[in-house]
Amino acid sequence: MKILILSRNRALYSTQSLIRAVESRGHEVEVFDPLQCNILVEKGNPRLMIGLDLMDRFDAVIPRIGASATYYGASIVRQFEYMGTFVTVKSDSLLKARDKLHCLQILASQGIDVPRTGISAGDYCISAVYDHISGDKSVIKLIASTQGLGVILAHSKIQGMSVVEGFHRVGEDVLIQEFIQDAKGSDIRVFIVDGEIVGSMKRQAVDGEFRSNIHRGASSEIVQLTEQEKLIALKATQILDLQIAGVDILRSGRGPLVLEVNASPGLEGIEGTTKMDIAGKIIEYIEKKLD
Ligand SMILES: Nc1ncnc2c1ncn2[C@@H]1O[C@H](COP(=O)(O)OP(=O)(O)OP(=O)(O)O)[C@@H](O)[C@H]1O
Ligand SMILES: [Mg+2]
Repeated sequence: MKILILSRNRALYSTQSLIRAVESRGHEVEVFDPLQCNILVEKGNPRLMIGLDLMDRFDAVIPRIGASATYYGASIVRQFEYMGTFVTVKSDSLLKARDKLHCLQILASQGIDVPRTGISAGDYCISAVYDHISGDKSVIKLIASTQGLGVILAHSKIQGMSVVEGFHRVGEDVLIQEFIQDAKGSDIRVFIVDGEIVGSMKRQAVDGEFRSNIHRGASSEIVQLTEQEKLIALKATQILDLQIAGVDILRSGRGPLVLEVNASPGLEGIEGTTKMDIAGKIIEYIEKKLD
């Protein structure tokens, strides 16, 4: 098979891990930067270029689309879909998962428990929205935050409202979210490939920090999932039609809450923590689909 990895940087751990997994199974692999791919739209003849050349056909594409190139990257993935190439993440699912608000709207509408979340474009409504969402503490969040950057804990309603107003002044819409204190600065990452949980870990923020992102210095360890957590994680990926995903769960007093679903989940944390060959599972999934 000829497999293409769409990645802005081939030196990244996840990309390297996938390259090794493809090659060790005797397949061919290429890595293209999605921003170096060009789309040609024409009746009955969808094509792609890489740099100045028309692109050869691939059997499968593994999109690793970062937040810096979501729209363009998803458009490239969509073009592969129109060309009949198998993609491990569909462009629609990628876009839904990347938009934190849209993702929560979809999940909540399908019966998945999520932290109470709201958004308001008008300053005069913030107070009222706030009262429906949270008590004193809240989390204010950029819709496209990553690595915990743009995720702010407000300790009081007054403080939270002034943060939201500040973002509005610079033209940014932000989410107002109930702060899940019970999570105690931790979250659970559940890694799913082809409807199966292939690894899970608990990430714990450093002392005094509430964000459990590895990039914010959090530590991680293997965790045993409850049946309820397994079910909710699998259901979230089914709803978003994602076959490969990282589902982030907060443990709360009212049960597990899905915080977000990542359609391009990194492999370094999960492979390092669980010592599992997750990249290998992804390639096996492609082999099974194209068999
Ligand atoms: N409502 C909340 N209550 C408690 N903790 C939260 C809440 N929202 C976020 N956190 C903490 O902050 C961290 C970062 O938030 P979130 O995952 O929403 O954004 P992000 O990490 O920037 O996005 P991405 O995971 O897509 O890179 C979470 O992993 C979690 O530890
Ligand atoms: Mg996160």
